[in-house]
Amino acid sequence: MFYKPNFRPESLPHDPFKAIVSPRPIGWISTINKDGSANLAPYSFFNAIGDKPPMVIFSKTGPKLGLKEEKDSVVNIRDTGEFAVNFVSFDLTDQMNISSQHFSHGEDEFVLAGLEKGVSEIITAPFVKAAPAAFECKLYKEIELPGEDQIAIIGEVKGIHLNDEYLKDGIFDVTLYKPLARLGYRDYAVIDELITLKRPDD
Ligand SMILES: Cc1cc2nc3c(=O)[nH]c(=O)nc-3n(C[C@H](O)[C@H](O)[C@H](O)COP(=O)(O)O)c2cc1C
Repeated sequence: MFYKPNFRPESLPHDPFKAIVSPRPIGWISTINKDGSANLAPYSFFNAIGDKPPMVIFSKTGPKLGLKEEKDSVVNIRDTGEFAVNFVSFDLTDQMNISSQHFSHGEDEFVLAGLEKGVSEIITAPFVKAAPAAFECKLYKEIELPGEDQIAIIGEVKGIHLNDEYLKDGIFDVTLYKPLARLGYRDYAVIDELITLKRPDD
């Protein structure tokens, strides 16, 4: 089968794009608004794009559900120039999902999802204290993408929080917290098994 994104065949009633680009890490973005209230929302168009210095990217697609308003994370990042990225363990699945609802600007998803805030070292936005890891980021660049309402936000990681519970002999052991990853449709995956591979020229 071959198709162009604008001409998806009827035999594909649901867009498989996100199922194809699977699994994707979830960047659980925390920000603070001008009035000082915190915001938290998951973004799975998210990844790391560099490591010297460490850089991350996430994309906002569309407005708030049913409204013409900009998403709160974007508004807050434009206003403050900073954000934190929290990582989602399997244990935090429900809280992550709760925080994806379209609440009005200024409503604090930390409170709504029953999450404790961690105090950041470099930025003002809080991070999710229970997260296995969190990055404190400064906005590097906002890029307008083709389409009606898509933008990418690139941040430089300025500080890294690691939950010591998940360190084993100096290695950050993901099998101890089981990262939640986004697939297509309504599906998620949980990473709890690893394979280790040496490169041929190692
Ligand atoms: C697992 C998951 C991944 C999501 N990924 C994205 C994404 O990559 N881009 C996006 O615009 N919205 C994404 N959403 C929807 C946002 O989380 C949702 O629109 C949220 O209300 C935005 O919150 P905000 O207005 O506080 O930024 C995702 C939702 C879930 C549950």
